[in-house]
Amino acid sequence: MCNVQILDMTLNDFDEIEPIYNSDFDDFWKASNLKSELENKNSKCIVAKLDNKIVGFATLWFSVDDAHITNIVVHKNYRHCGIGSLLLERLIELAKVKASITLEVSIKNVYAQKLYFKYGFKNLGIRKKYYHGADDAFIMTLFFE
Ligand SMILES: CC(C)(COP(=O)(O)OP(=O)(O)OC[C@H]1O[C@@H](n2cnc3c(N)ncnc32)[C@H](O)[C@@H]1OP(=O)(O)O)[C@@H](O)C(=O)NCCC(=O)NCCS
Repeated sequence: MCNVQILDMTLNDFDEIEPIYNSDFDDFWKASNLKSELENKNSKCIVAKLDNKIVGFATLWFSVDDAHITNIVVHKNYRHCGIGSLLLERLIELAKVKASITLEVSIKNVYAQKLYFKYGFKNLGIRKKYYHGADDAFIMTLFFE
């Protein structure tokens, strides 16, 4: 998908995503979480656009020495054609001001784990019952040299 652009998210982008957030992107997070990230000065939100249509987005929260991926999601009709990789590449680029980039991923979310392994993330541990008090999560980190 060479004509996909990765851009900073704007409030207009949020307005486009909000009504279709759960139906077209993800039923795990809420749009209100995304709005909070957009308003957080320690976070960075990006979108993937194909012909001006939003086909994915991701959020990164900066702590003291680590950047934490709080969400990365691709539109359900556009998955497995490289957009998640483009978003992750941009997050990694942004995170390089810190020592590492980290995320939690459900132990059941094998596709996402494959994406992170592809970019060199290592599985560093487990958070028990991290999702809805039920599913465990792997903690995956990529350290920068
Ligand atoms: C995880 C997610 C962001 C990946 O985005 P994507 O655009 O589909 O990812 P890509 O097309 O760039 O694929 C990257 C790698 O992920 C793996 N992958 C993604 N989808 C896959 C599928 N349907 N089957 C097998 N492997 C898959 C592959 O290893 C792939 O690399 P490859 O194409 O070289 O084999 C997307 O599936 C998604 O939005 N899922 C729902 C939200 C979510 O789970 N987010 C992660 C939270 S931790």
